[in-house]
Amino acid sequence: MMVKRPPMGFNTWNTFGNRIDEKLIMESADAMVASGLKDAGYEYLVIDDCWSKYERDPETGKIVPDPEKFPHGMRYVSDYVHSRGLKFGMYSCNGVRTCADYPGSFDHEFLDARTFAEYGVDYLKYDNCYRPGSADQRTLYRRMGMALRASGRDIVFSACNWGQDDVWSWIRSTGASLYRSTGDIFDTPESYRNIARSQMDKLGASAPGCFNDMDMLTVGMYGKGLVGSTGCGDADYRSQFALWCMFSCPLMLGCDIRSMNDATRKLITNPELIRIDQDEEARPPIFLQGEGENDRICAFKFLSDGDYALGLFNLSEEDRDLVVLFNDTGLPASAGYAFALTNVFDGSDGGVHREHLRVHVPAHDCVVYRVKLVQP
Ligand code: GLA
Repeated sequence: MMVKRPPMGFNTWNTFGNRIDEKLIMESADAMVASGLKDAGYEYLVIDDCWSKYERDPETGKIVPDPEKFPHGMRYVSDYVHSRGLKFGMYSCNGVRTCADYPGSFDHEFLDARTFAEYGVDYLKYDNCYRPGSADQRTLYRRMGMALRASGRDIVFSACNWGQDDVWSWIRSTGASLYRSTGDIFDTPESYRNIARSQMDKLGASAPGCFNDMDMLTVGMYGKGLVGSTGCGDADYRSQFALWCMFSCPLMLGCDIRSMNDATRKLITNPELIRIDQDEEARPPIFLQGEGENDRICAFKFLSDGDYALGLFNLSEEDRDLVVLFNDTGLPASAGYAFALTNVFDGSDGGVHREHLRVHVPAHDCVVYRVKLVQP
């Protein structure tokens, strides 16, 4: 199945862990529509780990939904999600158990894929815990890739092996449409920064058909959920969201979308940032800072309509000026062109600049521009 743009949606894990049930899913579906997220492009509602009973049905061998969490079964939930015009996602794992110790799909791949198809699942996140030592993960991702194709339903395959084994170099061959490229995110500035830094030299492999997934966003969580998460401020959430957009990553929300505040809703529905993320060519950005300069990221991305996007991220603890030299983007001063900038956060005019740009960026924050090449 050809997935042309980085998937957008919501996933239960970051905020809710094992505290999931049908009420949460149905309320989240309602919230996705009512808050304007659906109109902004968010479509997948994904139930992560912890949805099943601890053991398979001894007679059928099938995974069984936890009757306390999902008393009407998964088809009921899936029908509800679909009735709101959304798509329904679920979770399994290539090992014998899932990461939270529920039954995994190892050696049950084809049966489980058929079961997910019966539920009406449109998207499967497939994790990497409790693999038998003899089982090679490349083979196991291929197996589920093939099982999903045999299931009789179009199901987006979301591989989650945390970037192990140079995942970018082989994952497309398994039928996956997105691949987790790092370990789990936590709701701290260090976590999203380290994740973004770790992928800067690997974005060339991410393209329409199969996208680099830097994990669910923690935007809007403010420290709720996820053990080990102290939370971030709004400047960090702006930076995290904009980095994911500049890197053409899937935008899977991890906050409680039923009760997000206005700043969060505005940020994650920002049409200009979403356009940058969803650009049909998904070209990797060029980085304009010097090597080893870890306290800033200056990213410049070619967009398919002829414009460019420029994101300046101050990853340090001090407010300061960030300077970029246009020569590094491909534009020598001698060419006679300039860049005309529009700030994507507030639509303000960022001026027309030749040769270089100097912008004041507060600590943890960012500035993102839509850029037009002009002949002044
Ligand atoms: C792994 C994944 C997480 C989440 C948990 C669930 O850690 O990387 O995204 O799915 O498992 O147990």
